Amino acid sequence: MVKEKLFAKMSRKKIVAGNWKMNLIAQEAIALVEAIAQLKQNNTAVELMVFPPAIYLQALKHTSLKVGAQNFHPAEKGAFTGELSLNQLKDVGASIVLIGHSERRELFLESNSFLKEKVDAAFAHKMPIIFCCGEPLSIREAGTALEFVTLQLTESLFHLSPVQMVDVTIAYEPIWAIGTGKTATVEEAEAMHKGIRAAIEAHYQSSVIADSVSILYGGSCNATNAAELFACPNVDGGLIGGAALDAASFIAIANAF
Ligand code: PGA
Repeated sequence: MVKEKLFAKMSRKKIVAGNWKMNLIAQEAIALVEAIAQLKQNNTAVELMVFPPAIYLQALKHTSLKVGAQNFHPAEKGAFTGELSLNQLKDVGASIVLIGHSERRELFLESNSFLKEKVDAAFAHKMPIIFCCGEPLSIREAGTALEFVTLQLTESLFHLSPVQMVDVTIAYEPIWAIGTGKTATVEEAEAMHKGIRAAIEAHYQSSVIADSVSILYGGSCNATNAAELFACPNVDGGLIGGAALDAASFIAIANAF
């Protein structure tokens, strides 16, 4: 089964995803998605997707771009004031979800075990995921970034079966590089992506599974630095924040492949 799936996949997907965070109002969101759809033309080498604020998903339902949700609650329904379930997000057009963005981890205190619940809920709903991981500056400076990120994967993802793991997309987002204008160097990004792939291989005892997982880079990736980041053998695209709010710069990033 895994082999068949991998054969069908052949090579890793290239993905450029825009995380709009808590930006834009409805008219702006619609205008941005239309501008991106128009500019992307026939670029089929890269899959483009955007993660708008959830209240605008319905309005963007008919775009040709894949549209996802930045966050959700793992419960099916119930007394979770202010939260949204996967059924609700599907209902308004979300076809992929982010899990474990560093802002969810840092500002909303989402733990590895809570994120594991989200991973399981998404798989139960057959909802594709982009699982985010990444270390804060203090950990980077202590020299234990790979161990830190590997623990995030171990505690939230590595309980998945091999067949499920093949369907996961990972985004590595060094927290110190998010929204700061600082980017990991090409060497730092490649080393971490390679390390993440090695951790998958070690856990699943399979280089084929490790090689099938797309690993995106996030953290001040923009039109200027995307080409050199995407040229790294283990970088399969980007999760873009600030630079995704402008159609031309988002498309320039996608065209960097
Ligand atoms: P940034 O954000 O590109 O603005 O650094 C990336 C992200 O948080 O997804």
